[in-house]
Amino acid sequence: MRKILLLLLLFHALFQLRAQRINIPIETNQNALVLQTDKDNRLGIIYFGKKLSQTAEYLNIGKAYKYNDENAGIYNGVYTPSGTFNLAEPAFEILHADGNTSSDLKYINHQVVKIDENINQISILLKDPIYPVEVTLYFKTYAKQNVMEQWSVIKHQEKGTVTLKKYASANLYFVAKDYYLHHYHGGWAKEMKPEDTKLTAGIKTLDSKLGTRANLFQPPTFMLSFDRQATEDDGKVLLGTLAWSGNFKIDFEKDSYQNLRLIAGINPHASEYALAANEEFKTPSFIQTYSENGKGEASRNMHDWARKYRLLDGEGSRLTLLNNWEATYFNFDETKLTSLFKGAKDLGVDMFLLDDGWFANKYPRNSDAAGLGDWQENKKKLPNGIGYLVKEATKAGVKFGIWIEPEMVNPKSELYEKHLDWVIREPNRPEIYFRNQLPLDLSNPEVQNFVFGVLDDLFTKNPELAFIKWDCNAVVYNAHSMYLERMKKPQTQLYVDYVKGLYKILERIRAKYPKVPMMLCSGGGGRVDYEALKYFTEFWVSDNTDPLERIFMQWEYSYYYPVIAQCNHITDWSKVGIKFRTDVAMMGKMGYDIVVSKLDEKELEFSQNALKNYANLKETIWHGDMYRLVNPFENQMASVQFVNKNKDQSVVFNYLTENRYDLVSLLKGIKLSGLDTKKKYKIKEINLYPNSKSTINTEQIYSGEYLMTIGINPDISSRRTSVVLEINEVK
Ligand code: DGJ
Repeated sequence: MRKILLLLLLFHALFQLRAQRINIPIETNQNALVLQTDKDNRLGIIYFGKKLSQTAEYLNIGKAYKYNDENAGIYNGVYTPSGTFNLAEPAFEILHADGNTSSDLKYINHQVVKIDENINQISILLKDPIYPVEVTLYFKTYAKQNVMEQWSVIKHQEKGTVTLKKYASANLYFVAKDYYLHHYHGGWAKEMKPEDTKLTAGIKTLDSKLGTRANLFQPPTFMLSFDRQATEDDGKVLLGTLAWSGNFKIDFEKDSYQNLRLIAGINPHASEYALAANEEFKTPSFIQTYSENGKGEASRNMHDWARKYRLLDGEGSRLTLLNNWEATYFNFDETKLTSLFKGAKDLGVDMFLLDDGWFANKYPRNSDAAGLGDWQENKKKLPNGIGYLVKEATKAGVKFGIWIEPEMVNPKSELYEKHLDWVIREPNRPEIYFRNQLPLDLSNPEVQNFVFGVLDDLFTKNPELAFIKWDCNAVVYNAHSMYLERMKKPQTQLYVDYVKGLYKILERIRAKYPKVPMMLCSGGGGRVDYEALKYFTEFWVSDNTDPLERIFMQWEYSYYYPVIAQCNHITDWSKVGIKFRTDVAMMGKMGYDIVVSKLDEKELEFSQNALKNYANLKETIWHGDMYRLVNPFENQMASVQFVNKNKDQSVVFNYLTENRYDLVSLLKGIKLSGLDTKKKYKIKEINLYPNSKSTINTEQIYSGEYLMTIGINPDISSRRTSVVLEINEVK
């Protein structure tokens, strides 16, 4: 009898233990993601949203959200496996060494590591109860910035190789009445075209299958509003992005509870990955920030995070420059270039950037059809080499930077003739070109050495090189690797191993050259993401430098990336006057791509002054807080404000974006943001064209309260299509 009692007690204790749910709150200063085990020890998401002040109260959430019926644990899984209980879109799919396709993941333990006052890293170990497969989920929280970064690491101890078929970075779950997705499509010269979609039942997918230049048609950035469309200053909104420079897939699945599942990661399309026992597969990071005060606050949090923790030298400075791409295209020689250096100096920029066309001899790079891959100076154009140009630029008083596109090859090149096996191509099919070129196979360590060598060689020979523009102009067709074939590895690893190879190269470059500024360019903005931006100081927004187009494009990019990272150049792409072009370029990292000697006297004087104004304001623009005051997608004008962290300097850029008589006359005052209500400010109009007068009263002193409650009228009109206002505290 005693034995039976003991057994009963033991069962009871075990049951109690089982029934005891594990709760894992993952919090930033404002937000929380709360995970909880179910009765079978599977880990689900029970809450995402505003943080509660009493952690214990998260325990009640399950009841409030009715997670108790038989579907519970299917939709809200924190890393949903496939082939067992789950019938929804999985985050994880695996083919075991014995050919079995089932998986289940149960909670084992978790750890919280405090990295510093602001950062916690939570790791959660999940294991399959039948197969020796484990997944560790990582959540890194940046408390003050309200940013969460998450990724997963997959490992196994099976006898033989397993195949990862799907290996997401994040699997989130949201509860709201409705969901509004703000996402993007585009193409060359039309990056970041926004679209708004109210999500309906089923799955909406954002993805890329382009291999390289992966965001050409669609970037992995999006905004998700909950209940109703968030505005700039109001509403619940999540800004999300995948930090991966290759194929991605982000699924938004509205389930039968009307809740929303999000699964984001590397695109599983043609990307099955072989994993040997004890090897680790680390997924890229999914990064998100959530705000209940609208898109503006969310984006400012993202900017603060990026500058402090992600973007290379995000809290540092940047160089203004004169680029020669549109000024010369491929048609230049030493004399022409050195004469442009003088223009850079006259203008007042820090650096001259030599673009495409400086290399290759057997097949000279005189157009985009030849020479890519042969990184020796073209003897005809540059008989004295890069070293001479660096010296001449220094003499002229400017630094010197250079363009490369080291991942690519033209079939008309010595590199192609010598190393056909380094090229991504199907040996049995006709080659398909994108801009007359093919990508090199970065999964191959020899190719990685070659690409690293292109840069290393340039820096070794020219230690004063001040800047690199790294371009990437082709997508991957015929995704076949001779290297993987030789190594007897599956071809389906190419898309992933290419990107991993790229990161290995960039890692080596940064180990040796930690701070040289590098611009991430991809035939425009075809490759912009937060993994690449660990290695780059800035990115090329688009080849389209028409300032009107740029107002819209820069507006959208600015939600995800701080403007210190956005390269905006003044070019002759559009015939709009230089003032408008300059003002728009100033809302970021400013540069030029013009022939300075062709500017008339007034244009030159205006530009020189604008650069001086920029020098005075750049700290505020680069490191301050950005407020989008008037949205050009909804109005006939745009207005963007930057305020420094001390709130003693601000700048407001205002543009007329649609010129219709009756509409212009209705334009009103604009309420400013981010100022100190108690401080006193004076306003002056800057970037005035020579001989023109401002209509703004510069003597009036305003309180921050006034400027943010009543506002000011920049007096935009068809004669004043672009108005820049500098605001300084009066002490
Ligand atoms: C594409 C880039 O976007 C341009 O700025 C320029 O560098 C060209 N490539 C050069 O080929």
